[in-house]
Amino acid sequence: MKKITAAITAVHGHVPEYILTNKELETLVDTTEEWIESRTGVKQRHILKGTDKGTSEMCVEAINGLLKKRGIGPEEIDMIIVGTVTPDYVFPSTSNVICDKIGAKNAWGYDLSAACSGFLFALTTGAQFIETGYHKKVIVVGADKMSSIINYEDRTTCVIFGDGAGAVLLEPNAEGLGIMDSIMRVDGAGRHSLHQKAGGSVRPASHATVDAKEHFVYQEGQTVFKSAVKGMADVSAEIMERNKMTSADVAWLVPHQANKRIIDATASRMGLGNEKVMLNIQKYGNTTAGTIPLCLWDYEKQIKKGDNIIISAFGGGFTWGSIYLKWAYNS
Ligand SMILES: CC(C)(COP(=O)(O)OP(=O)(O)OC[C@H]1O[C@@H](n2cnc3c(N)ncnc32)[C@H](O)[C@@H]1OP(=O)(O)O)[C@@H](O)C(=O)NCCC(=O)NCCS
Repeated sequence: MKKITAAITAVHGHVPEYILTNKELETLVDTTEEWIESRTGVKQRHILKGTDKGTSEMCVEAINGLLKKRGIGPEEIDMIIVGTVTPDYVFPSTSNVICDKIGAKNAWGYDLSAACSGFLFALTTGAQFIETGYHKKVIVVGADKMSSIINYEDRTTCVIFGDGAGAVLLEPNAEGLGIMDSIMRVDGAGRHSLHQKAGGSVRPASHATVDAKEHFVYQEGQTVFKSAVKGMADVSAEIMERNKMTSADVAWLVPHQANKRIIDATASRMGLGNEKVMLNIQKYGNTTAGTIPLCLWDYEKQIKKGDNIIISAFGGGFTWGSIYLKWAYNS
């Protein structure tokens, strides 16, 4: 009997309407359009405006688009895993809220916290439920409303991040397509360089934590930058070696979109030219767990059945990893 693999059979994304340009950021903090674009690659990012709108709002749009594309109803979904660090609430999970909003009456699910590696960790987790035969249709979402935890007075972080959501459907495949291999890593010592200081059980919300602006992203940019370059490049090279692949075998690199310079360093280590690297940081900035499925969504029409794809991410925690998959359809 052929081994069952977990294949992505549809992808869809959503970014909110409002566009925050580098020009507008010049009016908020001491920065320039030129600095932001040359140091990060970001030209604009989308921001979810309006009261009472959380991450699930964007996930619902992405998932409804996904279901329509695949021609299936919400009641057919077995499970929804949401990679996010900006859940609607501490509890219940964003997955719970989404199941209710879209009418996925037969589904269960949960949120997975791995910062910028959230989609990668969720994808490898979702794949296990398919490979074991436990489920037939698993939706994996990467989504973050970063604007809810960004301090728009801090020029070192507010220029990078944006809001967005991307979703994929995982289904069983018997043709040898889908997820082939994955390498996942964490290093908790990295938590000091990139985290949100308050709002968890160590420092619950109080007047003092709000006054000290501890509910925003805290980042030591250069330390994260160096670790990201090494982490993403190492793991991408390792997954290629482990699967005996050369750069000629790789059709696409789907890198987490944190900084164009980190992406370039990873591609160069893998020996890949720009034409094989998915890039949308200029449009959306760093949407944390959203970047990778948003890339797949943007490039979907260019990907061919059988293409070898390497997905790589690095994020807060630290968390990082790489997935090797064979694309399963032509769109
Ligand atoms: C944050 C980041 C863009 C900063 O870029 P950098 O080239 O490392 O810049 P540095 O931190 O060395 O700062 C250089 C100077 O630019 C300044 N600067 C920082 N942000 C600025 C901005 N938006 N506009 C203008 N100047 C800025 C700094 O204050 C510093 O000035 P100084 O030399 O007078 O002290 C970069 O470090 C980065 O991308 N880090 C990783 C981010 C990341 O991947 N995060 C998500 C995890 S996956």
